[in-house]
Amino acid sequence: MNDHLCQEKINLFYARMAENKQKPGPLMPTLHDAQTIFGYIPLSIQKIISEELGESIAKINGVVTFYGNFSVTPKGEHTVAVCLGTACYVRGSKNLMETLENELKIKEKETTPDGEITLVSTRCIGACGLAPVFSVDGAIHGNANVSKVKETIKELKELPHETN
Ligand code: FES
Repeated sequence: MNDHLCQEKINLFYARMAENKQKPGPLMPTLHDAQTIFGYIPLSIQKIISEELGESIAKINGVVTFYGNFSVTPKGEHTVAVCLGTACYVRGSKNLMETLENELKIKEKETTPDGEITLVSTRCIGACGLAPVFSVDGAIHGNANVSKVKETIKELKELPHETN
């Protein structure tokens, strides 16, 4: 079993699920816990959730893949998120997403092969006045344009790599 899914984390996750089951609508808090504890929600974890909460894998997988803050693959060191909410969308955020996909040579929801950058989309993050916006590790960059995006990616790539 790989490091992300070590037994200690699985035990913690079962404990959280037991708490969540006491609440109405335990699926979303359980998925949030899974994302936080494991860093992603692979099929093996979706199966555990399915058994524990009595929800179908199809439903769980649908929710996991719908929301940008859940991931089915391990997340990279940095997360770049483009807001595709209405205000950002009409101001060109789709174009920003395409630029990022080209620059990073990955698609939305994927991580660069070196494990450095994960690209996701989000719904409105409440900064519509700055549309279009994207964020890097939660820090919002407003009034974005293609050159700003390219510049940010260049800076990210130049950051020293974390060593574990
Ligand atoms: S739509 Fe992007 S911040 Fe609101």
